[in-house]
Amino acid sequence: MINYTEKIPNNVDLGRDRVLQRALEHWQPAYMGWWYDMGPDESHNYEVYLRTAISVEPDGWAQFGYVKMPDYRWGIFLQPRDEKREVNFGAHKGQPAWQEVPGEYRSILRRIIVTQGDTEPASVEQQRMLGASCPSMYDLRNIFQVNVEEGRHLWAMVYLLHRYFGRDGREEAESLLARRSGDTDNPRILGAFNEPTPDWLAFYMFTFFTDRDGKFQLCALAESGFDPLSRTCRFMLTEEAHHMFVGETGVSRIIQRSCEVMKEHKLDDPSDVRALGVIDLQTIQKYLNFHYSVTLDLYGSDVSSNAANYFTSGLKGRFRETKLEDDHVLSEAEYPVFEVVSGKIVPKSVPALTALNERLRDDYIEEIADGVARWQRVIDNAGVPFRLTLPHKGFHREIGNFAGHFISPEGEVLSGESWKKRESQWLPTPGDHAFVQSLMSGRVVEPGKFANWIAPPARGVNNQPLNFEYVRFH
Ligand SMILES: [Fe+2]
Ligand SMILES: [Fe+2]
Repeated sequence: MINYTEKIPNNVDLGRDRVLQRALEHWQPAYMGWWYDMGPDESHNYEVYLRTAISVEPDGWAQFGYVKMPDYRWGIFLQPRDEKREVNFGAHKGQPAWQEVPGEYRSILRRIIVTQGDTEPASVEQQRMLGASCPSMYDLRNIFQVNVEEGRHLWAMVYLLHRYFGRDGREEAESLLARRSGDTDNPRILGAFNEPTPDWLAFYMFTFFTDRDGKFQLCALAESGFDPLSRTCRFMLTEEAHHMFVGETGVSRIIQRSCEVMKEHKLDDPSDVRALGVIDLQTIQKYLNFHYSVTLDLYGSDVSSNAANYFTSGLKGRFRETKLEDDHVLSEAEYPVFEVVSGKIVPKSVPALTALNERLRDDYIEEIADGVARWQRVIDNAGVPFRLTLPHKGFHREIGNFAGHFISPEGEVLSGESWKKRESQWLPTPGDHAFVQSLMSGRVVEPGKFANWIAPPARGVNNQPLNFEYVRFH
């Protein structure tokens, strides 16, 4: 029996909600079983300097202290309710926001929540072996922070399933613990969440690119007319920012370190760079190409009647919906998508309602481009003549209008044969992975020490020094 208010910090009045308590009585032990099996490997006895959310108040959502990770208090938080909130787009625009699930949208809403929820434990599974090769105690602590918060995001989605979807919701909540990333029989729902995250460069790329997809999906769901979903996603977004910070600064520190070594030894040939135990910029570019392209697929088909339905029903809005200046109904508007016609990529105007996936993808690309420009500045400041580029959005795609076509990073349409010939220049090869992993054969955990292939961060966590003992091993 769980002491609800103690063990599960929440602002959903869990202590008085018998239905929810009963659902959680079954699910919570199953969740812990999942965490022991699929959470960070060998971490159960560590005490980790973690941030825990214990309320949604400014002083409550980021409490720092040592926690044994299985004792982390996975809480349930919704942004406080705005009584005057309305459905802000689609056919129900202007109605009061829904506090209960509208009957006609029950199954699509459940599917939206399950699809989002499925990504949260998936990433924990993908990252579970990385502790054994961490580049520092600081980084080890950060990956654990990301992992417990993804666990909490799963709780957030499971709360909605338990509270609003009855028996179906409870079954879905169980399935969320049963699927496994990369499993052939019972995989996670979305492609990028079944790809391995085999090394720390992949981890930082994942948190930069794929957690940012999470941000954009959450932003679109934060606009939802179903108010509990909106409020849940708003609170999750406060945590997501840290995950993207870990990714962006992680890649940036790797680039910085490689550039330092290149300058110091006056060399730029990738094999010379590798010989000094740092990652060549060419390999970083290939990882970037991979993670960017598989993440673009997560937004779905360029033209999608599902996306149109989600919007018209008031369930999933656009990025910053309420800040956009249009009718929020999109009955007349058009939006350009791209398609491949006789060997050329050409724009095509389609009803904006059907192009909402593409629009969200474009909003995402804009933000990604800014981040890549910040990485470029690290290279430029070091005086290294190398340009990191974002590949064309048709490159290496498996979903949408570009699927089945062979597009180069520059956006040329190629034959399958000539694409294959150059694939190893564009995407990480088994040899590249083997090299990166060879740098990460053991973990660096002496406080204040960093692996040779990465620069230290600008500052520590929560104003602690870099040589702080972020993880206590026992
Ligand atoms: Fe998440
Ligand atoms: Fe995340």
